[in-house]
Amino acid sequence: MSKSDRRGVTRRALFKGAGLAAASGAVLKPLEALAKEEGASGPRVQGPGAVKATLEVNGAKQTLEVEPRTTLLQALRLPLDLTGAKPVCDRGQCGACTVLLDGEPVYSCTVLAVEAEGRKVTTCEGLGTPENLHAVQQAFVDHDGAQCGFCTPGMVVACAYAVAKHGKDLTEAQAREATAGNLCRCGTYPHVLKAAVAAAKEG
Ligand code: FES
Ligand code: FES
Repeated sequence: MSKSDRRGVTRRALFKGAGLAAASGAVLKPLEALAKEEGASGPRVQGPGAVKATLEVNGAKQTLEVEPRTTLLQALRLPLDLTGAKPVCDRGQCGACTVLLDGEPVYSCTVLAVEAEGRKVTTCEGLGTPENLHAVQQAFVDHDGAQCGFCTPGMVVACAYAVAKHGKDLTEAQAREATAGNLCRCGTYPHVLKAAVAAAKEG
């Protein structure tokens, strides 16, 4: 899946929205005033202090107290101590932070923790266990899919998504498409693709 597919809001859309607001002479109002105007049925205004967010991470319900600006990646790594997803670029460019959100791959550095409220998050740690590796994790071991390992958790999640989507018939081209948003500075791409196809055949 391409990297633009994995972002919740594109930077272009964000700037476009900000530009329209500026052009119309809109004046930013305090959050509390906005909340009163919108009433109970309007959009929920969160923050600026810590707020509660309950999400399901790797099959377990987790209630976090996070500032609204906290990204899903930050929430996974700090309060939850799930350090598989890596903060490499922290701006939706490299794929090292890839996790599944309701089964779809996303860059967790571009998703807010509060946006994941009530949704299912699967990280690399949630795919298998050291004693019982996921087929993709085992295939990465068998096919030397990792070198320095910084991109590997994100690559594994992207490959697991491809295997789940295409099943036994996963082709190398489909695996390449699924990992198109994941960069590897060590150049493990041929090994990663072989591992994905092998894992798919394993079922
Ligand atoms: S750390 Fe999220 S895309 Fe690079
Ligand atoms: S294994 Fe080093 S960046 Fe991919």
